[in-house]
Amino acid sequence: EKGGHEYFMLKEIEEQPEALANTLRGHFDGGRIILDEQRISDQDLRDVDKVFVVACGSAYHSGLVAKYAIEHWCRLPVEVELASEFRYRDPVLDRATLVVAVSQSGETADTLEAVRHAREQKARVLAVCNTNGAQIPRESDAVLYTHAGPEIGVASTKAFLAQIAANYLVGLALAQARGTKYPDEVAREFAELESMPAAVQKVLSTVDQVRDLGRRIADSKAVLFLGRHVGFPVALEGALKLKELAYMHAEGFAAGELKHGPIALIEEGLPVVVVMPSPKGRAVLHSKLVSNISEIQARGARTIVIAEEGDETVRPFADELIEIPAVPTLLQPLVSTVPLQVLAAEIARTRGYDVDKPRNLAKSVTVE
Ligand code: M6R
Repeated sequence: EKGGHEYFMLKEIEEQPEALANTLRGHFDGGRIILDEQRISDQDLRDVDKVFVVACGSAYHSGLVAKYAIEHWCRLPVEVELASEFRYRDPVLDRATLVVAVSQSGETADTLEAVRHAREQKARVLAVCNTNGAQIPRESDAVLYTHAGPEIGVASTKAFLAQIAANYLVGLALAQARGTKYPDEVAREFAELESMPAAVQKVLSTVDQVRDLGRRIADSKAVLFLGRHVGFPVALEGALKLKELAYMHAEGFAAGELKHGPIALIEEGLPVVVVMPSPKGRAVLHSKLVSNISEIQARGARTIVIAEEGDETVRPFADELIEIPAVPTLLQPLVSTVPLQVLAAEIARTRGYDVDKPRNLAKSVTVE
């Protein structure tokens, strides 16, 4: 069943190109982005003036990633909220608010309650869900299904990548409805998304290198993760994977925050994973991260750098270099997350833990 793998998670990591392709399939037709179920009028979609993404855990991280794309494409403010916080703080919602509820299971209690609260306040709710007919999509005004297939491992992998892709489709659907992108631009963005399964397939060639690295750092006390821009939520996701699977202290930071506290944590030999933006993207982001890495390396950190292939500037600062294919900046999380999933799984396995069923966790959290 595990397709010859030691654990399901590795099988599911390798299924990610397919999960992405299946999630995108059929959503661009006749020159338009199409949702699965739309019980909101086109006019209502056009009138949206604010977006909230509500979710928990990895699904929340997929929303943090999507914020960069949706704001950029749609010129709409996007807030990303932990579902468990959302309804207790009296968020400002009305009929021009679109609440995007992201949930693999579609049954997460906090996310479901956030959906109910949003609808009571007359907001429109769009569900991004991996489970056909689950409660969250049933109670929503629109639905976009991710087609990652059943995810057995408690740690989300292929569902997370599929959530990012689906959230991006939501962004493109909004840009199309609002006219902030011309039809040919929407088509181009969709084509870029369609090229991602091949890019993820390529990044899977790093699995052996990353597993080997995982075995070598498995006895570390803690691991830190740093990123900027879309690399920041990737850092959060990498840390979550490591906490839940390897029971290790792991934290993700925005690299710009280093000097505001976290740099005090750096000590000799501490592994720090850095998610580098493309050197061909925004040069300022790249050069700031290079200087962050040199600072932490100078303080003794063991730097593990995820960088675009051919990024030579970063090489001198990388104790370990994991190369990922060149892709557009906004889509980089779809490739940069993959080595972090493998790293967490392999560290957990080396420490003797059950990668598919980590302690104290359930696949679907149906109590608040
Ligand atoms: O089913 P959901 O997407 O609503 O689940 C949300 C979280 O419970 C889930 O992503 C959790 O954080 C995973 N174990 C992370 O790997």
